[in-house]
Amino acid sequence: MKLIDFGVREDEKKYIQEWSKENDIEVKIVSDLLTPETVQLAKGYDGIVAYQQLPYDEKIFDTMNEFGIHVLSLRNVGVDNVPFDALKKNQIRLTNVPSYSPEAIAEYSVTGLMALLRNMKHMIRKIDTHDFRWAPDIGRELNELTVGVAGTGRIGRAAIKIYQGFGAKVVAYDKFHNPEIEKQGLYVDDLDTLLKESDVVTLHIPSLGKGHTLINETSIKEMKDDAIVVNTARGDLIDTKALYDAVASGKLYGAVLDVYENEVGIFNSDLSGSQLSDDLLDKVIKSPRFILTPHIAFYTTKAVKNMATISLNSMVQELQNGTSDNEINLDK
Ligand code: COI
Repeated sequence: MKLIDFGVREDEKKYIQEWSKENDIEVKIVSDLLTPETVQLAKGYDGIVAYQQLPYDEKIFDTMNEFGIHVLSLRNVGVDNVPFDALKKNQIRLTNVPSYSPEAIAEYSVTGLMALLRNMKHMIRKIDTHDFRWAPDIGRELNELTVGVAGTGRIGRAAIKIYQGFGAKVVAYDKFHNPEIEKQGLYVDDLDTLLKESDVVTLHIPSLGKGHTLINETSIKEMKDDAIVVNTARGDLIDTKALYDAVASGKLYGAVLDVYENEVGIFNSDLSGSQLSDDLLDKVIKSPRFILTPHIAFYTTKAVKNMATISLNSMVQELQNGTSDNEINLDK
């Protein structure tokens, strides 16, 4: 068996090399993303592993089919950039890594929230200029707040545990009820109730698809005054302009954004010294009430190792058994 792994960053290499040695399976490491051009490198290999934020071009899958490669294994969880129809047309199976470290994302959401509640961004900026005054950066305490968790999958549940540890009151919403959360009586009836009751709304759901936002001008009106939004899930869940305006007008307190609707091509790129062409992003970065980070909630040694190795294990399962635990249902 010979595998090829695309879009590999430096920090992932050692985990892939270790896996290759331990399993005695050749894995060619390619730092380029998977495109209609680079897919040519896959000729002669049995399976392709990849991670990228850019959409996977449909032509890639015609070439895979031509080369007799019928499995694409992703090193991440989100499959929103994969054209399922093109996969189906070419009889290509898809796997992802549904759980590489829910704790990494959950811990990060809380980290961002705590930083915002204690006005860390502004305080650090002040100290950089040798302004050591306290005011106006008086903090708020998490143990006094109600946290509304939207989405009670693995990440949402890990977040709930942490928030409860801090003494916050937790309410939750998900159209699929989890028995553990149900037993604790945390579910509210609908999203509107969650928005109305929460001081903090934290998002742990997948993308709802183009143009379908959860936080927008209408839903913000339902939210409590001075509420906070935390998003470590997908940027397109939020109408960022509406959120920015709500914070600027004083309706909402602020937001923690580890994802942004137009992040592709910006996040994880070194643009130092250059002017941002995205004015909204520029305003968000400048605002002390937004903690913005470049999609790093997942970025821990544990998660990166799991992404590298679980994707390869799924590929082996697929090639040996024709299916795997992490195969995506392309008809959903
Ligand atoms: C995903 O796993 O889909 C993520 O959002 C993390 C990614 C940046 C590797």
